[in-house]
Formats: sequence, structure tokens, C-alpha cells
Amino acid sequence: MTARGPRYRTDGSCPLQGRVAVVTGSARGLGEGLAYALSRRGARVALMGLEEERLARLAADLPGPAAHWHADVTDADALSVTAEAVRGTLGEASVVVANAGVALGGPLLDCDPRDWRRVIDVNLVGSALTARCFLPHLLRTRGYYLQVASLAALAPEPLLTAYNTWIKAHDSAVEPPSGEGVDENASKQHLYELARRLDIGGRSRMSRSELVEAIRKENRSRTREARSR
Ligand SMILES: NC(=O)c1ccc[n+]([C@@H]2O[C@H](COP(=O)([O-])OP(=O)(O)OC[C@H]3O[C@@H](n4cnc5c(N)ncnc54)[C@H](OP(=O)(O)O)[C@@H]3O)[C@@H](O)[C@H]2O)c1
Repeated sequence: MTARGPRYRTDGSCPLQGRVAVVTGSARGLGEGLAYALSRRGARVALMGLEEERLARLAADLPGPAAHWHADVTDADALSVTAEAVRGTLGEASVVVANAGVALGGPLLDCDPRDWRRVIDVNLVGSALTARCFLPHLLRTRGYYLQVASLAALAPEPLLTAYNTWIKAHDSAVEPPSGEGVDENASKQHLYELARRLDIGGRSRMSRSELVEAIRKENRSRTREARSR
């Protein structure tokens, strides 16, 4: 496997330059590391999480523009207010990383039911609420939503039943059933499958780029229709 560094355009600029990137749970750990990586590549970083002091320090430390918000991803109202504040302060998000998560619990018989609920609430509900809140930004910026998950999706962790449960459930919660976005780098088979789900006619004869365009067109039309309801 080859390690891949940041991708730059032919003029040497990074596609993240000047774009707004939101990272939830960014006070520490992976979220903090991602915030540095995004900032070094020129993104304007919106830090979100529970630990205000750490977030403030990180915002001041990042090499590029950044701001922070105290926001619990399980609180839909707080997320909406924060999404609006991010738009007003830094601009609309082009990248959203749903990273906030907890790994509590143990075997089902021994774990505290409150911990079990907390894992589902933060990791599953929190991620879906994050996606829901920032989707309007991403649709307008044609941006990217990244869900931080875990290898537990492939091999369940023996002592973390709630954690294993959210990992299995999150695909259907977060991936929009009709695929509101489309990753240009997806395989042709995946694009074809999306087109099939969207019932796009003539898909079997389409090239890769035609599939991407047809899916985007259908998504735009469905989004307009949903908003007018
Ligand atoms: N570390 C690993 O080995 C590993 C492996 C696989 C997947 N992951 C996933 O990677 C992500 C980050 O893991 P990590 O190890 O970096 O965890 P971490 O160091 O514990 O950081 C998680 C961050 O999320 C915040 N957070 C928790 N609940 C929140 C909520 N309701 N709203 C907003 N922020 C909240 C935490 O704040 P508090 O500290 O105040 O709670 C913390 O700042 C998680 O989703 C985790 O499931 C991690």
C-alpha cells in the first residue's frame, strides 16, 4: 500500500484552500488531529465539541483561520444554531467530519444501560443529526460528508455491544436512501447502483460521467421537490 499525501491541483493549490471544514468532537484525539491536517491544507476550520477551553486553545493554535463552538451533537436545536453560526462566521461548510463519538459499555449483561444509550445517542443519533443539519450547506457547496466509523464495522469488538450496534446501524441512518450526494471517485458499479435506486432510465448505456451527471440532476430535482412540500 502506498501512503497518499494531500492532493494538489496542477497550479499547486490545494482543493481545501479557503473551504470551510467542520469537525465535531475536535477538542482532542482524532478530531484534533484532523483539524490540524485540514488547517495545514488551507481550510477554514469550524471546531465543535463539549470542551470549550480546549477548543478555544486549538482554534488559536491552528495555522489558519478557525473558530469554535460548544455544541453537543445529540442536541438538534444546538446543532442548527451552530450550523447557522458557522455560516455567518466562516462561511458554508464544504467538508463535514462527523467525528464525535464515545466508546463506553462492555458485555450486554454487565454494562450500565445509560452507557449503552449514550453510545447510540452520541455515535448514531448525533451523526445523523450532524448530517441533517449541515446537508443544506453541503448541497450548495457540493461538499463532502465524512463519517468517522471503526474497524468494528468489519470485526465486532468483543466487549462493546452498543458500539458494534451503532456501527452496523449508521450506514442506513447516514447514507441518504436516494444518495443526495455523489462521489465522483466512486466505482462505476456503485454509480450504476445509485442510478438504479433512483430509477434513472437508460443507465446501462451511460458512461461514468453521464451517470454522475444524471444522478446529480435527479438528486437536485428530488431535493427541490422535497423542499417545496
Ligand atoms: N481511538 C480509536 O482507537 C478509535 C478506533 C475506531 C474508531 N474511533 C472513532 O473515532 C472517533 C474519535 O475517537 P477518539 O479516539 O479521537 O475519541 P476521543 O479522544 O474520546 O475524542 C472524541 C471527542 O468527541 C467529543 N464528544 C463526545 N460526545 C460528544 C457530543 N455529544 N457532542 C460533541 N462532542 C462530543 C469528546 O468530548 P469529551 O471528551 O468531552 O467527551 C471528545 O472531544 C470516534 O467516533 C470513535 O468512535 C476511534
